[in-house]
This record gives sequence, structure tokens and C-alpha cells, in this order.
Amino acid sequence: MAKKLHIKTYGCQMNAYDSARMYDVLAPLGYEPTDTPDGADMVILNTCHIREKAAEKVFSELGRLKRLKADGQPMILAVGGCVAQAEGEHILKRAPQVDLVFGPQSYHRLPELVARAERERGRGVLDIDILPEPKFDQLPESGARGPAAFIAIQEGCDRFCTYCVVPYTRGAEYCRPGADILAEAGRLAATGTRELTLLGQNVNAWQAEGMGLGGLIRKVAAVPGIERVRYTTSHPAHVDDELIGAHADEAKLMPYLHLPVQSGSDKILKAMNRGHDADDYRLLAHRLKSARADLALSSDFIVGFPGETEADFQATLDLIDEVGFVLAYSFKFSPRPGTGAAVMDGQVPEEVKAERLARLQAKLEVIQTNWYQAMVGRDMDVLFDRVGRHRGQLLGRSPFMQPVHVKAPDGLMGGLAKVRILESHANSLAGMLVAA
Ligand code: 5AD
Ligand code: SF4
Repeated sequence: MAKKLHIKTYGCQMNAYDSARMYDVLAPLGYEPTDTPDGADMVILNTCHIREKAAEKVFSELGRLKRLKADGQPMILAVGGCVAQAEGEHILKRAPQVDLVFGPQSYHRLPELVARAERERGRGVLDIDILPEPKFDQLPESGARGPAAFIAIQEGCDRFCTYCVVPYTRGAEYCRPGADILAEAGRLAATGTRELTLLGQNVNAWQAEGMGLGGLIRKVAAVPGIERVRYTTSHPAHVDDELIGAHADEAKLMPYLHLPVQSGSDKILKAMNRGHDADDYRLLAHRLKSARADLALSSDFIVGFPGETEADFQATLDLIDEVGFVLAYSFKFSPRPGTGAAVMDGQVPEEVKAERLARLQAKLEVIQTNWYQAMVGRDMDVLFDRVGRHRGQLLGRSPFMQPVHVKAPDGLMGGLAKVRILESHANSLAGMLVAA
């Protein structure tokens, strides 16, 4: 009989990708996906360690799952991902209901780990080794992923921004060979994928066979069936001419780019070890927008980094005005164990962080609302990848990643269609089909 597997995913798109691959890895053992932990034979929490809040969520979820187990559900409870990597031993001590803990570089070994967890129930199996063997070579081929899919091309990070846990949880940079990526792209296209997002923690550091990300994008765009290409998350210091060239003339590369800057203050950027200053970023944004006039830029910001004064924060607000982002994500600085910034002088009091975050988010809300509003009346291609909440409605993505609700026949599911935007909301658009 089929066994039921529920994976709950936290954090970034790489984690979402990893979760999809975990289903692939466990399918041969008879595990089928289920969207609830109730009645599941195995539950995996695929966790995120990026900020304290993200990590704490895991322990509250483990508390809820403990009750399911106490009620007699014979479930294997596993914790994977970045909290597992960073706090493996601690999880097993604090949450003895957990049967298995494994890191982001161990999930290709899940079949043997699960077998051990089944044998040694209650003992707590731990695998957070980061071995040099490339995980990707050992994963089974990915199953169908739908019209818009992710593909990991690069993993880990060697940059060591002083606030960031990624180099510790994901390890050193690794680039998948181009041929592997293109083979996976081809298989996904053959199962109906039209849009591919190339993923990596430092994705534009990707290089292989003398080629950089710009060259790879062109090759992926040339895979039959692929209509759209995106990449995330990129770092300003690795945007080279080849990549800017791809934005200029590869029509399938979508005009939306998430390019985090984190702060507008040179002093703070230096303390963050970002490897660029605010002017470098201004120039880069200008070059990208000159290459592709309709390019929409988004960013991440951290407020209350150690040493951040009101003037530094003001420099961030100024940079936002100058660059013209369409939206951004913003966070209070969260000191992470083992990182340089956690022990820096000048930690900013919680209430100052909260006050700056509120001001920043109020500004960003206006910017995003205006941008969505500016879409009204425009015609754009939408890739339909989900059914809408109402009957006869499909949900798709604009070239700029905005969700678009459209009344459309089911037959359009999985394909691109021209849509006129009629309404804007805070986080979505609504439109109608128009003849191409
Ligand atoms: N505190 C707050 N925000 C952080 N980020 C990464 N590390 C931290 C931290 N320690 C934010 C950055 C990054 C995004 C994914 O999370 O803005 O771009
Ligand atoms: Fe979170 Fe970073 Fe791990 Fe992604 S790589 S899950 S953002 S800690």
C-alpha cells in the first residue's frame, strides 16, 4: 500500500525545489505526496535558518506534530533543511519526538536514512555531513513540475556577508555542469514546463565550461518548449557584461530581476562585506535598465544592522527613490549564531529596528501599489499555471511575476495567452483575454 508523505516547506525557493526533489527521492520507496500531516506516514519539515523567527517556527510546528504522534499516529517525523544543518544535535535534544534530522546536502541519502529511522525508531538519526560528492548526480530524474518550474544550477555561497548563515548551512559554492542543467531543462519541457527559474543562493556566480550565467540563459532559452527564463537570487558583484547582454537581447529572459542591495549606506554595506558600495549598485541598475528598458528591479533590505544610524537608514530610503525598485522585501536584522555581525559592536535596539522597518515598509507599500496600478490598461503575456479560486477562472503570472486572475477556458492551462489588465490589487492583477 502506498505510504503518505507530507513535506512542509519554509524559506526560500531553493527549499521549495529541494522539497520537490525529496518527493522524487522517496517515490521509489512507495511514498506519495499528501497535503496534510494528518494520517501521514512521514512528515518532513524542510526548514529555514535565515532569521530567528523562521527558525522558531520549526519548534512550534514540532510541538503540534508531537501531539499527533502522542495520539497514536505511527509517523516518522523528520527535520531537514537549514535549521537541521545548523542545529541538528540541539533539535534531537529539544524535540525527542523527532526521528530523523538531515541537512540540505544529505537528502539524496534519504532512502537509507529513512530505513535507519524506521529500524531505530525513537533513537534519532542524524545526518548533517556535507560531503564533496555532488548531491545532484545522485538524485533521480525529476518528475513533472507543471508550467512554471525551478531548476537548481548552483548551490552554496562563498561570499560570507557578515549577517548571513547560508555559507554555513548550504556550504561552499557548487555549480552544476551545463549539460546536466540542459538535460533537466529538456525533461521538464517535455512534461509541459514553459517557464524555468534557474536557482542558486548566489546564482549569477554560476560558471562552467568557460561560460557564465548569461551564456547558460541563452542555452536554456533555446531548449524546445521553453518560453520564459528567470534566475534568482543574484548578487550585484557578479553581474557581468555577458549577463547584461542576455537582458538586452534574449527575449525569453523575463524583465523582472530580484537583485538585493540590503542597504543604501556605504558604511553599512562595508560592514556587511557586500563587496560593492551604493554607487556601484546605482550604476549597475542603470546599466541593466539601459539594456532592457522595461526591466523591473526588486530588492531585499535589512534594517538595524549593527552600527546603523538614522543617517545610514536615510541613505537606504534615498537609494530606493533613486533606483526606482518596483517592490522589495525588508527585514529587521536578526543576529544569527556563528556569523560576524551577531557579535559586532553597535547592535541596534529592538524598538529602533521596529520603527525603521515600519517606515521602510510604509514606503515600499506605496511603491508596490503604484506599480501594480500602473499595469492597468496594459496588454501582457500571462502563463497560466493554476486554476483560480472561482469557477472558470485561471491564475497565471505576468512577465513581472505578478499573479493575474483571468476568466479563461481550462484548455489554456499550462500555456501563454495575451491578457488586458483591468484591475490591480495589493498583490495581484485581474484581466481579460484579448486576441493575440
Ligand atoms: N537578518 C535579517 N535579514 C537577513 N537576511 C539574510 N540574513 C539576515 C539576517 N541575519 C535577509 C537578506 C536576504 C534575505 C533572503 O534575507 O535581506 O537577502
Ligand atoms: Fe533559509 Fe537560506 Fe536555507 Fe534558503 S538557504 S532555507 S533562505 S537559510
